[in-house]
Amino acid sequence: MGAGGFVAGDVKNYPGKVTRHVVNACVLGAMGGLIFGYDLGISGGVTSMAPFLNKFFPDVYRKEALDTSTNQYCKFNDMGLTLFTSSLYLAALIASFGASYITRTWGRKRTMLLGGIIFFIGAALNAGAVDLSMLIAGRILLGVGVGFSTQSVPLYVSEMAPQKHRGAFNIVFQLAITIGIFIANLVNYLTPKIAGNQAWRYSLGGATIPAALICLSALKLDDTPNSLLEQGKAEKAREIHRKIRGLNDKEIEAEFQDLVTASEAAKQVEHPWTRILKRQYRPQLTMAVAIPFFQQLTGMNVVMFYAPVLLQSIGFENNASLLSTVITGAVNILATGVSIYGSDKSGRRSLFLSGGAVMFVFQVALAVLIGSKFGTSGDVIELPKWYAGIVVACICIFVSAFAWSWGPLGWLVPSEIFPLEIRSAGQSITVAVNMLFTFFIAQLFLAMLCHFKFGLFIFFAIFVAIMSTFIFFFLPETMNIPIEEMSRVWKQHWYWRRFMLDEDDDRRASDLMV
Ligand code: BGC
Repeated sequence: MGAGGFVAGDVKNYPGKVTRHVVNACVLGAMGGLIFGYDLGISGGVTSMAPFLNKFFPDVYRKEALDTSTNQYCKFNDMGLTLFTSSLYLAALIASFGASYITRTWGRKRTMLLGGIIFFIGAALNAGAVDLSMLIAGRILLGVGVGFSTQSVPLYVSEMAPQKHRGAFNIVFQLAITIGIFIANLVNYLTPKIAGNQAWRYSLGGATIPAALICLSALKLDDTPNSLLEQGKAEKAREIHRKIRGLNDKEIEAEFQDLVTASEAAKQVEHPWTRILKRQYRPQLTMAVAIPFFQQLTGMNVVMFYAPVLLQSIGFENNASLLSTVITGAVNILATGVSIYGSDKSGRRSLFLSGGAVMFVFQVALAVLIGSKFGTSGDVIELPKWYAGIVVACICIFVSAFAWSWGPLGWLVPSEIFPLEIRSAGQSITVAVNMLFTFFIAQLFLAMLCHFKFGLFIFFAIFVAIMSTFIFFFLPETMNIPIEEMSRVWKQHWYWRRFMLDEDDDRRASDLMV
């Protein structure tokens, strides 16, 4: 057994079929990932469109047009422009805290709907933008929409899914993110051919389509039994629970009673934000911060945001680099499928560790490949086709390793480890940390490339080694554990058990709940 191993022992095995209702709920719910993905994928391409730069960032446009420097590492470094990409993630960060209150009091479903509506308005403002302030206002609304949906969707799916398939269902959210990214890459590749100077309007306005889809699906969804109990709607909760599990009252009783107990305990907690800081939640709090932080420090978003720029830096034509982005986008989708299959069979830990090992090797390979051609001067040279092909292949393998590990698990694991009383607060922390570091990577990457040069890949490789070691020692296996029974994995963990209360303490603590 590995350092984070967990003895399955007396794990409860609730009955529950994969019903049409649960599939519908999870698939429609997971659509929330589309808007996040579309955003991640669209801004890199839009900011490389000359008419867009000329309209909103004329200084950057002139600077690029006049740039005669030969240093490829520093060519695209501009803080104002990266702020366009990164501002959205700052807005999402702030919104996720408000979303915590809304998911708790209004429920998961309404939060998703609200997120979709705000996102729709943001996309429409962007498409019609006549000046920079309209553009930025749109970005902020998009960010709020993303904050709301990344807060509510993973919780929604984890609570709906039957325990044995929670991993697979939850990863449909990540699959939707990767599909969103891919569609955005394709749109950016096609709009300049179709709409010329107005291409950016179509690229940005395209986000209204996934937003509308999300609103429509959220309208059709039922809220989760856990959330309905949290809102005091016990009868409705029972009805939905029966429906999604495809069982009768008697058959759902054991699982339903556990949900009721969890919800009762949760109701006594008036201040989840104070509560989450208590010593007994230290393991969950650590994971809520560490997992999204490490996910961003894999360097994946460098590829997502700046692959066209990166590939142009190493000598690709503009069109070839946009096309390569489409290829990495497709690889991202396919490899996410591996995780859907593997997370409930081989477990979260083995996916994390295998993904980490492969990412490490190929990041080092990229550093060597790029460093040996461009050195530290970054002078332009003609890159042989076969060599460029190897670089793209390494990027694809790196992307696929992320897609079967840190990509989906970075959302799945935090959403399943919190007890109900601090679940919304915990998820907010995960979203906020994720958005904060997405912001940093988006904002700082071009400056980092300029200073670290090819060593940037070594920088991320070192982080991948650290995060894999962390997972090995500190993350217990959560596969197949009912969501309201999760506390047992910490109680049996070699390190975290010292933070956990025993049964008597549990009782005393609930008497003293804040
Ligand atoms: C991450 C994003 C990333 C995407 C790539 C998501 O899980 O949160 O930051 O761009 O995966 O597929």
